[in-house]
Amino acid sequence: MSAEFDAACSAFEAEALAALTAARSSADLEQVRIQFLGKKQGRLKDLQAVVGKVPAADRPVVGKRFNEVRDRVTTKLDERQAELQQPKRVATAIDLTLPGDRPQLGRLHPLTQTIEEFKEIMGRFGFEVVDGPELEDEYHNFEALNIPKEHPARDPLENFYLATAQTSAGPLMLRSQTSTVQIRVMEHRKPPIRIVSVGRVYRPDEVDDTHHFMFHQMEGLMIGPDVTMASLKTVLKLFATSYLGEETTIRFRPSFFPFTEPSVEVDVRWKNGWLELGGAGMIDPNVLRAVGYDPEEVSGFAFGLGIARFCMLRHGIHNIRLFYENDVRFLQQF
Ligand code: FA5
Repeated sequence: MSAEFDAACSAFEAEALAALTAARSSADLEQVRIQFLGKKQGRLKDLQAVVGKVPAADRPVVGKRFNEVRDRVTTKLDERQAELQQPKRVATAIDLTLPGDRPQLGRLHPLTQTIEEFKEIMGRFGFEVVDGPELEDEYHNFEALNIPKEHPARDPLENFYLATAQTSAGPLMLRSQTSTVQIRVMEHRKPPIRIVSVGRVYRPDEVDDTHHFMFHQMEGLMIGPDVTMASLKTVLKLFATSYLGEETTIRFRPSFFPFTEPSVEVDVRWKNGWLELGGAGMIDPNVLRAVGYDPEEVSGFAFGLGIARFCMLRHGIHNIRLFYENDVRFLQQF
């Protein structure tokens, strides 16, 4: 093999490899390919022409040298093609291995958490959750609940009436109790019934540690052929122990509500005394008749519990105002 051919091979290889390395895009690469390996005018053709002219005896050595150079350049071309077709890695200032800034997670309001838990507990006892309107008419808030016109609970000063709204069922008002939902459910359904309803109620009460002008109640209603005071006490006892703990003691204290007979206040043992949680009783036969039920065939109980009181008991909160002030230092603790 002539020294001249050998040098030409080395120069071809070195220049081709350098050009392939320098190519920055597939288009660059194509130019380089045409320049060095192109079938028509590529520089490889010149070397090939030399191989064709050497004497037959020298051809194996010269051919081998030619083939090796061509193969190395072709392999490099293939490698560069594969590299340039890969998506570009963009250098960024983000170091993904650094620990991140933890975003502050929001959480549910303690009363919302309590409400969710109440619904879940009552759901386990087979009580369906229903809703009722906060804007009510006098009929559902009072009349249907056996609360007559002259009853002191209907005093305009004891309620939030809407000055202008009038309906066929009387003036509109912000409901003062969730017992309204009892009526709305009984109007549309036949026994057996087992529902709870949780929501806001409004009374112009003076605000103190355990009273607010807007608060939440959970109403319960169960109607069927064999519902008794024992059923009521069993459900409330099971409910109280489920939320407040096994050792919780409740008691019934005789009371009066126009729509239940007999009526009771439900208290729970609290520190060295008792704390009132709600009212309850057996649905008055007048109420059952008014919604078209026969008191000889079905009986029922109802209860209305103050939700904040339960939450306060469980967490040792002494001031109901804290629920409504939206101070994150308080809310973050739940
Ligand atoms: C009632 O509202 C009756 N509807 C309860 C009822 C339902 C009786 C079904 C019979 C059958 P009372 O006014 O006592 O009852 O209120 C019930 C509970 O709501 C109270 O025990 C107390 O836990 C809570 N509560 C009453 N007023 C307030 C207030 N201003 N702020 C916070 N909670 C209150």
